[in-house]
Amino acid sequence: MALLSSRRAPSAAVPAADVPAAPGRAPPRHVAIIMDGNGRWAAARGVPRLAGHRAGVAAVRRTVEAAIAAGVGWLTLYAFSSENWRRPQEEIADLKGLLRHYLAHELAELASAGVRLHVIGERERFGAELAAALAAAEADTVANTRLDLVMALSYGGRAELVAAARAIARQAGAGGLDPAALDEAGFARHLFTAGMPDPDLLIRTSGERRLSNFLLWQAAYAELVFLDVLWPDFGAEHLAAALAEYAGRERRFGARLG
Ligand code: IPE
Ligand code: IPE
Ligand code: MG
Repeated sequence: MALLSSRRAPSAAVPAADVPAAPGRAPPRHVAIIMDGNGRWAAARGVPRLAGHRAGVAAVRRTVEAAIAAGVGWLTLYAFSSENWRRPQEEIADLKGLLRHYLAHELAELASAGVRLHVIGERERFGAELAAALAAAEADTVANTRLDLVMALSYGGRAELVAAARAIARQAGAGGLDPAALDEAGFARHLFTAGMPDPDLLIRTSGERRLSNFLLWQAAYAELVFLDVLWPDFGAEHLAAALAEYAGRERRFGARLG
């Protein structure tokens, strides 16, 4: 199975002076990953899906270490979508249990590695206890600067956009905002990701090639890399391959390079 299923782009040319961001050769500031394939990994081994999700947590650990070693500043991981609530109650309970375990047993290690945790998504849907544990994890790591780790939990891009539109409409209705003055930056301040850089590189594992409602606004100009590896098998070598693929991409942002 090929490691990379995406086409390799020709090497980047020298960018024109008015291109708004660094060329692809610079390392990505922000890498976002759709961690997919836990169920297929388990099925291939004849073990319960929970075993696949557990192996997925181990891959998260490896990936955080690899991202720090590679000098990535921001890492966003899609762990649970707003549509994943459609899964059987038993699987949802297993995933909640894994999240609880992760916060209880891995947060200290993350914190000592210099990781600052952020959560995007409708965390309250996990219940008051888990929502409070997530808020505490964010507060406990707020001073860390080595890696900003964003966990997308009960996250959906469409729900996020609707919530932003609702907040803006409310503000305008109350006379606190002139609709004509709203610009892209002003809109983005109403997203869960307010203050965070947009992803430069978006990776999806397991061979699926879709966004599944992930970072619809933020990924407007992300470079997409689809890998055939199942998430529980993901490791430093796969991150390195995706970074190499990214380095060969020419990022134009609609402008012309020469
Ligand atoms: C990703 O693996 C984890 C979550 C969505 C929670 P899946 O559980 O989607 O695994 P597949 O796609 O069925 O293999
Ligand atoms: C996307 O994977 C969500 C996460 C990885 C958390 P899914 O497995 O839920 O996506 P679909 O259903 O195949 O699009
Ligand atoms: Mg899946």
